[in-house]
Amino acid sequence: MGMAIYPGSFDPVTKGHLDIIERTSKIFDQLIVAVLENPRKQAVFTIEERVEMLKRVTSGLENVTVEYFRGLLIEYAKQKKVNIIVKGLRAISDFEFEFQMALVNRKLNPQIETLFMVTNSKYSYLSSSIVKEVASFGGDIKELVPPEVYDMIMARYS
Ligand code: PNS
Repeated sequence: MGMAIYPGSFDPVTKGHLDIIERTSKIFDQLIVAVLENPRKQAVFTIEERVEMLKRVTSGLENVTVEYFRGLLIEYAKQKKVNIIVKGLRAISDFEFEFQMALVNRKLNPQIETLFMVTNSKYSYLSSSIVKEVASFGGDIKELVPPEVYDMIMARYS
């Protein structure tokens, strides 16, 4: 079923993101994981590092590509000629802001639809911010991030 974009800041990618990527890649013929800037968050990893981490964890998924874009998500989608955006939803707390973004994006470009994937309950507690908090206080993030990116994340905090 066509192409989709899974956008996010992925600072850094977590097991929760990877679960959404794997499940979404089974629904669409092609999935582009796109690193974009979230102006509300100060990033710890550069865009290039975030792309590199995503490439490592998706290397076994042949219909998944990883890119980045500096600017508006709908501009990127238009440029790629993809009209489906996939977002992950963990909890009601995610919903309000995701709903607002989806409506603004539709206002800006009514051709583009936002679809929500519901998290795997195994990972509903996970977020990039929690990973960074645990790592910054010297905690073990092994259970929280894909093994391929563990060292890269720990290196930033050692
Ligand atoms: O993983 P995140 O931080 O929840 O992802 C949010 C992201 C990067 C998808 C969002 O901030 C975004 O779309 N940024 C690009 C700028 C843009 O288009 N903003 C949305 C206008 S409502």
